This record gives sequence, structure tokens and C-alpha cells, in this order.
Amino acid sequence: MHDLQITPLGYAMGAEVTGLDLTKPLDDLTRRRVYDAWLKHVVLVFPGNAHLTPEQHIAFSRNFGELDTHESQAPETLLEGNREILVVSNKPRAGRPSQTRNTGRNWHTDLSYSLRPAKAAALLCKEKPAVGGDTMWANLTMAYETLSPKMQAIIADMEAVHDVTLVRGLNQRDPALVADMRRRNPPVVHPMVRVHPETGRKSLLAGERVSHILGLTEDESQALLGFLNQHATSPEFVFRHRWRVGDIVLWDNRCTCHVALPDFDQTQPRHMLRCSMKGEAEGRLAEAGPAATKEQMIQTVASLS
Ligand code: OGA
Ligand code: MN
Repeated sequence: MHDLQITPLGYAMGAEVTGLDLTKPLDDLTRRRVYDAWLKHVVLVFPGNAHLTPEQHIAFSRNFGELDTHESQAPETLLEGNREILVVSNKPRAGRPSQTRNTGRNWHTDLSYSLRPAKAAALLCKEKPAVGGDTMWANLTMAYETLSPKMQAIIADMEAVHDVTLVRGLNQRDPALVADMRRRNPPVVHPMVRVHPETGRKSLLAGERVSHILGLTEDESQALLGFLNQHATSPEFVFRHRWRVGDIVLWDNRCTCHVALPDFDQTQPRHMLRCSMKGEAEGRLAEAGPAATKEQMIQTVASLS
């Protein structure tokens, strides 16, 4: 019998789940209780899983959805023999610098630069620096719900372009792999307001991988995005996790964004394994070019008068 305990960790979100043995399948009742706690607390921390095998990590993650086989990612970032596991690590691989050593360095929702943003992820900490290497999540449901009704109305029908080239630190990665990432992920359009398919609650889909809002000028777009991103990631909506080796953090990617902080000594290993749960097909390919500039608008007005 499991002795399941769920302890809230933060106001915005976050709860620790103890009393589970993740090397074994969860029974139906336990699975349901964990799943409901996840929908409620959004980010769950499961400590004590340092020795989980890749197969056990995968089996556990399947409780929360079908797993992504990472077509959007370069194959060399995946665990040998397990396409379901992405290696987020600063340890060299095959004698070369790791291509994921700076993964997640700006606020983002996983795979928002693709037509199928992830449903969820379960990230397991295998090795960590002595201090730091924290991750922060922002609750985008809270962010949406605390906008004024007027601002909610303004963004209600807005769509934004998400672009993989805005992943921070891409220029420090292997150019051939970056070109491959770009080929796999042309810019896509997503609505700025998402409806959570399970809770029905609205959330704000912004983040630092958004290039512009469709239909606005560049200046309008940057100003509004700046405000929305600052609002969404304000400390009141953030849960910050200090990793311990063996923690699995499971997050709901349908109503959060997150950032991996470089607040640690990069000569020390930080080694994480991630399973991603497949999201629903949501976006469409972006057809139009960049937003109109002020100069173009002036020209348009001039040619009309
Ligand atoms: C990720 C990610 C966070 C981290 O794996 O999606 O953003 O702290 N990583 O490593
Ligand atoms: Mn991420």
C-alpha cells in the first residue's frame, strides 16, 4: 500500500509528492490522485529517484500522457537507445561539448516553437552542482487571470509567432545542429490565450521565444510582449526549485513557462534526463514575414494622402 503525501511548496504552484515507489507501476487509484494533484498544483516534485532506470522514468512519465519521441530535436541530444529521453547536460558527449549545456536559458514553454507544444515534462536530476542550477516556473493561468478584463479583451484574438531561433544561446551550439533545428522547426503561430484542455482555464502563452504578435507593428508588438512577459514572470507567479539529486519535477506545460538558470559553476556537472509528453496539435505555420515597421506604416500613410 502506498502512503501518498502531497505537500504544497508555493503559493503560485508546486507540491512535493512522497510515499511513492516509482520503480513500480502506480495502481489506478494512486495514479488518479497524483494526476489530480498535478492538475491542481501544476508542478510536482518527486524526490528520491536517483536510481530510476531510463525504462522506469519512461514508464512513470507515461502516467501523464503519450511520450514524445523528439522529432523536433537533434538526435545527438537523445539518450542512446531511448528516443523518449532528452539529455539536458553540460557534460561533454562523445568528446564534444554538449548541445544541451545551455538548454532553457530564457523563459519558454517547451516546444512552443513547434506545431505541438508539449503537454508536460518529467525532468530527473542525476547530477547537480554544489549550489545553484535552479529552475523557475511561472504560472500562466495566474498571469492571465490577473490581467484587467480590458487587457484580456485586447489579447483575446491575438496570435503570436514563436521562433526556435530565439532560443537563447543557440549561437554557442554547433552551427550544423542549429541549422537542423531550424529546418525541423520553421516559425509557427499560436494564440496568445490558451484554454487548458482539462481544467478549462485560460492562460497566457507568451515567453521569450515569441518574435512578434500578428497584425501589430514591430514597436507595438515589442511593447506589448515586454509587458506581458514581465507580468507573467513576476515573482508572485513563480515557483523556484532547488534541485536535489534524484528529484523528478513534473510540470504542466499547457499553463506554465520556465527558465533554467545559469546560476552555477559551469565546471561542475549538471546532468538531467527529460521525458516530454506529447501535446495536442495546436499551431499553424507562420506565412507572413516580420511585423510591419514604423517606416512602412509612414510610407503607407504617405501613399494614401
Ligand atoms: C527543459 C528545460 C530546465 C532545466 O528541459 O525543458 O528547460 O533546468 N530544462 O534544465
Ligand atoms: Mn524547457
